[in-house]
Amino acid sequence: MADDSQRMTVEVVEVSPNIAEPGEAPTVASEVFRQLLQQAIRVADQANAQSVRMAADFAEIYRREQVIRNEYEAKLKELRLMERQTTRYAEDLAQMLRTERERREELERALEQERLANEELRRTGLQGISHLLLAATLKDQTTGAHLLRVRRYVEAIATRIGLPAQLVEEFGYSSVMHDVGKIHTPDHILQSEHHLSSEEFEVIKQHCIDGEVMLGDARFFETARAIAREHHERWDGQGYPDGKRGSEISVAARIVSVADVFDALTSKRPYKDAWTLEEGMRSISEGAGKQFDPELVEAFKTLRADGTIERIRQEVGAARFE
Ligand SMILES: [Fe+2]
Ligand SMILES: [Fe+2]
Repeated sequence: MADDSQRMTVEVVEVSPNIAEPGEAPTVASEVFRQLLQQAIRVADQANAQSVRMAADFAEIYRREQVIRNEYEAKLKELRLMERQTTRYAEDLAQMLRTERERREELERALEQERLANEELRRTGLQGISHLLLAATLKDQTTGAHLLRVRRYVEAIATRIGLPAQLVEEFGYSSVMHDVGKIHTPDHILQSEHHLSSEEFEVIKQHCIDGEVMLGDARFFETARAIAREHHERWDGQGYPDGKRGSEISVAARIVSVADVFDALTSKRPYKDAWTLEEGMRSISEGAGKQFDPELVEAFKTLRADGTIERIRQEVGAARFE
């Protein structure tokens, strides 16, 4: 290599002073120079082409990189958006759950308050009833013990025919109001119940209608209203005040009718002695299909047979109340 460069230098040294003058034939030196020049031009061309190619390649690579970077950024943006959306969604969800829970708790509180209010109303209602009944029993010849026994008989019959506990309870507390309308009946008529003129009997009938009206329109007294209105109706349609028959009379009133009559017969009243249990039962049995619903009479007879009636009579002792 050292020799070549030395040689070229020698050649250049040799060539330089002998550049052909115009018109002269080219010398060896100028031929070498030309060849060298052409070679240099070729190399330069190749280098140029190479750098153009490289530039193109680089441009292509740069372009691809740009594309990838753009895609990457777009994806990143998308991901960030999704992340934000997801976060927002999660927050919304959490908020919804919180709100839902608060609403549920609020609802539960409201329900509990309503339950308490209902309970209060029920207690108030029942207190009102007992005051009303106290007033009625002061006027009437009946007593608290009569009402208590009627209630117990009614509950026993309702249970025996398979009514649900809730109805049994409702029939029970409603039954004590059967004669509440008598508060309007003049004393002299109430106290001469054993020998009434037809005019007086018309006045007596009115206690059923008055009782129904007195009990207002609250749902709580729905059964009590039916009982007040219908407890003197008869299975055969010969009762009062409307002459309803059979299943036109509510079950509650049909049950109260049996219980009320039985207890009236077997209790001592100012105008009569108490009938024995057997006499009372016989009268009820004879009334089956006439005054009373025969199925209820059957149920009542099974209660007599299993000792329930006797037990109730003992538990609600006459001596304590009458
Ligand atoms: Fe009555
Ligand atoms: Fe009664």
